[in-house]
Amino acid sequence: MPPEIFTEPAVFNRIAGRIRVHLADPVLVHEALVKNAHLLSKGDDVRRALGPALGQGLLTADGDHWKWQRQSVAAAFRHDKLQQLLPSMVDAARRTQKRWNTAPGGHIDIAHEMMMTTFDVIVETMMSGGHDVDIHRVEQSITDYLKPTGWTIALAMLGVPEWLPHPGRRKARLAVDYLRSSLVKVIIERRRHPGDRADLVSMLLEAKDPETGRMMTDTEIVDNLLTFITAGHETTALGLVWTFYLLSRHPEIEAKVIAEIDAVTDGQPVTADHVAGLTYTRQVFSEAMRLYPPAPIITRTALQDFRLGEHDIAAGTVLYVPIYAIHRHASLWEEPDRFDPSRFEPEKVKQRHRYAYMPFGAGPRVCIGNAFAMMEAVAILAVLLQGAHVRNKTPATMEPLMRVTLRPEDRLMMQVVPRQNKSPAA
Ligand code: HEM
Repeated sequence: MPPEIFTEPAVFNRIAGRIRVHLADPVLVHEALVKNAHLLSKGDDVRRALGPALGQGLLTADGDHWKWQRQSVAAAFRHDKLQQLLPSMVDAARRTQKRWNTAPGGHIDIAHEMMMTTFDVIVETMMSGGHDVDIHRVEQSITDYLKPTGWTIALAMLGVPEWLPHPGRRKARLAVDYLRSSLVKVIIERRRHPGDRADLVSMLLEAKDPETGRMMTDTEIVDNLLTFITAGHETTALGLVWTFYLLSRHPEIEAKVIAEIDAVTDGQPVTADHVAGLTYTRQVFSEAMRLYPPAPIITRTALQDFRLGEHDIAAGTVLYVPIYAIHRHASLWEEPDRFDPSRFEPEKVKQRHRYAYMPFGAGPRVCIGNAFAMMEAVAILAVLLQGAHVRNKTPATMEPLMRVTLRPEDRLMMQVVPRQNKSPAA
């Protein structure tokens, strides 16, 4: 990211002969991602980084192929459907809590813990449990696959040929082979016993293009399952990792969150109504995603020439929407680096441009799992903080590392400390 993008509305530069435009002005972001969405495609960087694993699934596809897939799965994310998924989210958080109770000395690697928790949620909610899939190996495979994607993107930006070896490439390929073959087994099993579960797998098996009547091939279903597993678990996990990191550094804010959780749940098992009432907890998670947006950058490629504000954009130009920089932009936020959940009080939100904050993207390609992720994160925080504090074992500041997602640069070890004053039922 060019450093000027933290203060300028837009930055133009040329790398390896290709023009790149970085947009930080919310007005320009709105024009690009919302008004001119039909003139933009996901582009080569995304295809090279994620295509080998996610094929032409919802996140990576363009045009009509994207559109009918989006329509096919939209119903799975309706409000009433999401409410039904809450118990699975709470159960997954409880399994994490149990694990924490037996962690030697209470020491945990918070990133690993949150990845396990959100992975558990996605497999339970989207695939009705994992069937016979080796969940730990799948989780490791995703990590192995995503690790070298920073390289893939850097090389794509420099126009380097795709076949060029780079660190982690072989491991990443093995990881993809394992992931895809595990999911093919799930689909074969489902085709044998159709209709016994109402989840994303069933929806994908039944999806039909309204115009052509075409249904998805096994490869397309695998593309989408992997898309949901990857897009849905790592992002939410990282949002939670940064939330715990920030809470451990701001005990006064942690105390407010815990007080709210106790007042709203009264120590009882967390329900959908509780989650809806946890306003401050939601503000804390939102603010953590402002400072550390799990998906820190969005890219698009112009399909044809068009005008963007005062700028002429030529076909083939790559547009970057640096969410990380927008969320800390000097012209949009006061003291941008300060952790302050009150920024998300409704009155303050109304005073800002809608696209000054966009952890889930914008326009027709906005995250389909947005409401799912918010509900899941608040539920997990509520369950885990009902019983314990999470203290940072590494006092130094943790810098974020930008891959496809925004990870802590190092292992973040934390200590679970059982709460002395917890509500009786917790
Ligand atoms: C805190 C958690 C999450 C964050 C920060 C996040 C962020 C994003 C962003 C920024 C995009 C837009 C990418 C672009 O425009 O190029 C996106 C798309 C997407 N997300 Fe999420 N996401 C999260 C959770 C989830 C969950 C839980 C699911 C599924 C259960 C999910 C599934 C998807 C899918 C399928 C897309 C592609 C949508 C399309 O192109 O039509 N995400 N996400």
